[in-house]
Amino acid sequence: MTTQFLILSLLISCHVLTATLAEETGFVGSLDRKALGLDKKDKVSHFRFYFHERFTGSNATSVTVVPPLPQYNSTTNFGLVGITDNALTVGPEPGSKVVGKIEGLYAGTSQSEFNLLIVVNFALTEGKYNGSTITVVGRNRLSLKIREMPVIGGSGVFKFATGYVETSTLYVDADRSTIECNIYVSHY
Ligand SMILES: *[C@@H]1O[C@H](CO)[C@@H](O)[C@H](O)[C@H]1NC(C)=O
Ligand SMILES: *[C@@H]1O[C@H](CO)[C@@H](O)[C@H](O)[C@H]1NC(C)=O
Ligand SMILES: *[C@@H]1O[C@H](CO)[C@@H](O)[C@H](O)[C@H]1NC(C)=O
Repeated sequence: MTTQFLILSLLISCHVLTATLAEETGFVGSLDRKALGLDKKDKVSHFRFYFHERFTGSNATSVTVVPPLPQYNSTTNFGLVGITDNALTVGPEPGSKVVGKIEGLYAGTSQSEFNLLIVVNFALTEGKYNGSTITVVGRNRLSLKIREMPVIGGSGVFKFATGYVETSTLYVDADRSTIECNIYVSHY
């Protein structure tokens, strides 16, 4: 058997295997990466956004839906569940140009320190990113100056995205906050 023939028969058997899998299960088969535009080299982008939370008033943007459980040490906010929807801006000033939103949930999940489980989507509205989202799920350890959380995926231009975000608090009081987000994301 020549080497060429061996390679050719391997290629054919791979192809047959894929086709058979799809036919047998009826719900799964392989795809050529090209068909999804995944044959291009992925790139790494750095986005920097700011957002501005309001905790009080009729137009609050980060609100508690479920208060912390009273039987636990209240300094850790264990049991708290909140929801957030804030404009993402290019600069740290609240009046700065808006390029998207951050929408999501946060929950107090530690009995020993003030940590939040964060589940948020960065929904962008600018240029070629308009309509695309970056999804972050992670542990926001508020005692740290810079908090790192994983980018677990995305939609639109961020399909198959991976990476991380670093957030830091530029300002916070009982009524409002300003947060800086640096997102480092690999995408196609
Ligand atoms: C709504 O938010 C703005 C800041 O963007 C603030 O100046 C205003 O007082 C708020 N209004 C109410 C009713 O809370
Ligand atoms: C609550 O937690 C804080 C920080 O961990 C600690 O300093 C404090 O002693 C705790 N209080 C109670 C009542 O357990
Ligand atoms: C983003 O796309 C929506 C339609 O999906 C459009 O209405 C909107 O004007 C676009 N925004 C920008 C800034 O291009």
